[in-house]
Amino acid sequence: MTDAVRKPVTLPTLRRMKAKGEKITMVTAYDATFARMIDEAGADILLVGDSLGMVVQGRDTTLPVTVDEVIYHCRAVARGTRRAHIVGDMPFLSHQISPEEALRNAGRFLSEGGAHSVKLEGGASAAPTIRRLVQAGIPVMGHVGLTPQSVHAMGGFRVQGKTEEAAERVLADALAVAEAGAFALVLEGIPSDLAAEVTAAVPIPTIGIGAGPACDGQVLVCYDLLGLTPDLKPRFVKRYAELFEAGKEAVATYCEEVRAGAFPREEHGFGTVKRPAVRAVPNPGQDEPRPLFGSYGPQA
Ligand code: KIV
Repeated sequence: MTDAVRKPVTLPTLRRMKAKGEKITMVTAYDATFARMIDEAGADILLVGDSLGMVVQGRDTTLPVTVDEVIYHCRAVARGTRRAHIVGDMPFLSHQISPEEALRNAGRFLSEGGAHSVKLEGGASAAPTIRRLVQAGIPVMGHVGLTPQSVHAMGGFRVQGKTEEAAERVLADALAVAEAGAFALVLEGIPSDLAAEVTAAVPIPTIGIGAGPACDGQVLVCYDLLGLTPDLKPRFVKRYAELFEAGKEAVATYCEEVRAGAFPREEHGFGTVKRPAVRAVPNPGQDEPRPLFGSYGPQA
């Protein structure tokens, strides 16, 4: 990788990429090791998504995730990241109540979590909040279309914008978010031609997930991309590895070897302790000499 490629990704970098037609790559991350792997692989943006509620915590929705939990994961991700731009995802009820409360919460992602920006779900109704955060110097990534925090209002994780009227609503939401000052916009679960229309209409980069190839960039949940979610294979996901199966196989081999006494071997140990030789000491009243305390075991 050249030094130019390694330069930290900033908002101007992302604007330039859209202008030049260079695709932006975003991947979720929740801990320092994955962050380091994804950052070293060259992803431009690491999203500490509230999807952690599902893939890390094993919940059915993202709704129970708290601000403290996302900030905890942001801190870990920040420790593993050198180049990528880090986005902290604002969870359910951390940004919907009022712009002031959203500002108080969003600030913590930057000051405590080490994130460079925040993401929040919502269209036209979220515009006043986005404007308030941007005014305060907090960069905001928008998120329209299928917004998982509204799962119950949508009647499930359903593709949005499929009718003419619904498509108009998604387009209006995207324009409102861009107009409010967001620096980028996630388009989730919308028809590909609608995503192309939105991408052409807004001046900011669009990052798609289940939104077709015309977006300025793409995002995937790292567990999906790496094949760590064996029971889930939504249509919009491409698995670039099968780490769940590979990991399961590795652990099964480890268990077998421990049970068979094949692991650990000599080379996995730390040799012998250097101790003074056993000295016989007078042991009044007994025939056998008693070794000094600490002189048992193999001698170096
Ligand atoms: O929480 C998340 O991971 C997300 C992405 C799927 C965009 O919001």
